[in-house]
Amino acid sequence: MKLLIYSIPIFLVQLVVSNADVMNGTMKLMMVQAIWRHGDRTPTETYHNDQFTENYWMFGGGGWGQLTPIGMRQHMQLGQKLRARYVNGQPYKFLNTRYNQQEIFVRSTDKNRTLLSAFSNMVGMYGNTAQENASIAGVDYPDVVGWPVGFVPIPIHTIPDAEDHLLSVDNYCPLQDTIWNLAKTTDTVSNYFNSSAVTSLMGNLTNYCGEEINPDNLWILYNALKIEKQYYPAQFKQFTPWYTDSLFEQIDIVNSQVQDFQNGLGLEGKMVNGIDIGKILRKIRGGTLVNDIYNHMNRKTQCSSNNGKECTYTNRLKFFAYSAHDTTLYALFSLLGVAKLAVQPRGYPLYSACALFEQWQDVQTNQTYFKLIYHRHENDTLSNVITSGIPGCEGSGDYCPMAVLKNYSDVFKPEMEMNQWCDVNILKSTSTSSIFSSLLAFSIFYLFVSSK
Ligand SMILES: *[C@@H]1O[C@H](CO)[C@@H](O)[C@H](O)[C@H]1NC(C)=O
Ligand SMILES: *[C@@H]1O[C@H](CO)[C@@H](O)[C@H](O)[C@H]1NC(C)=O
Ligand SMILES: *[C@@H]1O[C@H](CO)[C@@H](O)[C@H](O)[C@H]1NC(C)=O
Ligand SMILES: *[C@@H]1O[C@H](CO)[C@@H](O)[C@H](O)[C@H]1NC(C)=O
Ligand SMILES: *[C@@H]1O[C@H](CO)[C@@H](O)[C@H](O)[C@H]1NC(C)=O
Ligand SMILES: *[C@@H]1O[C@H](CO)[C@@H](O)[C@H](O)[C@H]1NC(C)=O
Ligand SMILES: *[C@@H]1O[C@H](CO)[C@@H](O)[C@H](O)[C@H]1NC(C)=O
Ligand SMILES: *[C@@H]1O[C@H](CO)[C@@H](O)[C@H](O)[C@H]1NC(C)=O
Repeated sequence: MKLLIYSIPIFLVQLVVSNADVMNGTMKLMMVQAIWRHGDRTPTETYHNDQFTENYWMFGGGGWGQLTPIGMRQHMQLGQKLRARYVNGQPYKFLNTRYNQQEIFVRSTDKNRTLLSAFSNMVGMYGNTAQENASIAGVDYPDVVGWPVGFVPIPIHTIPDAEDHLLSVDNYCPLQDTIWNLAKTTDTVSNYFNSSAVTSLMGNLTNYCGEEINPDNLWILYNALKIEKQYYPAQFKQFTPWYTDSLFEQIDIVNSQVQDFQNGLGLEGKMVNGIDIGKILRKIRGGTLVNDIYNHMNRKTQCSSNNGKECTYTNRLKFFAYSAHDTTLYALFSLLGVAKLAVQPRGYPLYSACALFEQWQDVQTNQTYFKLIYHRHENDTLSNVITSGIPGCEGSGDYCPMAVLKNYSDVFKPEMEMNQWCDVNILKSTSTSSIFSSLLAFSIFYLFVSSK
């Protein structure tokens, strides 16, 4: 009874404090959306001759592709950086000091490593504030012996992996396979794949690995070598006598180029069968996500002058996190034209890389802006602002008008729900539609001539 009486006033005071607006001049912080890659993990699979079997990977529950304690630590630390920036006033007091379910939504892909990364991240943000004395036993977590003091569990949402075309960009999608096969017929890709540098490398790797290594499966080898060398340097030398650093660099260069092509980079305006390959790859891989991010912001803006019931959820929501993959982040960056700027010198985003979209509104004009921050790796801060690298945002400083993001969303929004679009036979539909349009053109011509 006593506990209850004490807790209520604390609870009220904290809600009031967190409701103060975060301002920078006339700009007001409205909402933050975070998209991150999971932390350090074990290899997802490996090559035929590899002597590092699954038995070597006992971390994080054991087996292929699991989040390791290093990965958990990386995400807890990212969560602590997010807490400093958005909770503790370095520089913003934007979110409540204690977990408030109305402010936060976390969605993960349905993979163990992304789910656990999200949980680890939330440990850093809200789940381990015993030192700060922020959370309250008996209110935020059970006041019992055995419960870690200060640990507040936070819900992580997901949807079945096969249905997740928002965040799992390499999900089964026949349309994407078709387009990628068309991409391989372009001069740009076929000349590269057929170059002696690439074919000779693939030939050598095929010999070493005991299975065919080609540009499509090269990433598996790249990943396995990188992780094995990190975890077992001594055995790695023994198990992989053919390995050299310069060979690994060649693998890295080729693999990064393949990934760039897969994301439509270097294929801008390349037409095959009337299809813009660079554009459609961006649409398939990143269009749904950019549209989702934009829609959240647009709804937030619309609700900022609407206190109706339909806006209650949106008006309270302040932080939306997507726990995903290097592929997710890179697809988004490729679409926004910042892949090369964000990820250097090459390759995919590193463990616990995180893009932050901050939404700001000028309270004098009501204009909405976004600011893009990129946390590159575990040792980075949250101060690397890359907004002005987005084509359309040049010269707008840290804050880019929302109209630019709307443009990207409009241009790259998929033609229909991905679940349906993935099953569309685009070759059939373009050839029928071109026959149809020639027929139409012919009839119009005929009408035109006969009416003369
Ligand atoms: C306020 O905005 C300016 C850019 O307009 C930026 O340089 C500064 O860091 C911002 N300050 C905070 C606390 O966000
Ligand atoms: C996740 O863990 C379960 C066992 O808990 C395992 O069966 C499953 O294969 C793992 N999934 C992934 C994607 O790692
Ligand atoms: C934490 O806060 C509670 C309630 O406000 C207070 O009773 C307690 O003494 C505080 N503990 C520390 C270590 O500051
Ligand atoms: C490149 O290789 C593919 C098979 O991988 C072949 O179909 C194509 O004709 C080759 N192109 C050139 C220009 O040699
Ligand atoms: C492949 O191996 C041969 C023979 O060792 C070597 O001469 C050649 O340079 C290697 N090719 C590449 C791309 O490393
Ligand atoms: C901004 O929005 C508020 C709330 O809807 C409205 O009262 C105000 O007139 C608007 N200001 C401008 C400059 O449009
Ligand atoms: C971060 O710093 C640690 C300690 O210096 C280092 O071991 C690690 O490799 C660094 N990570 C990255 C991604 O730079
Ligand atoms: C939107 O895109 C169109 C066509 O690509 C361009 O002309 C226009 O300037 C863009 N608008 C903004 C705000 O970026």
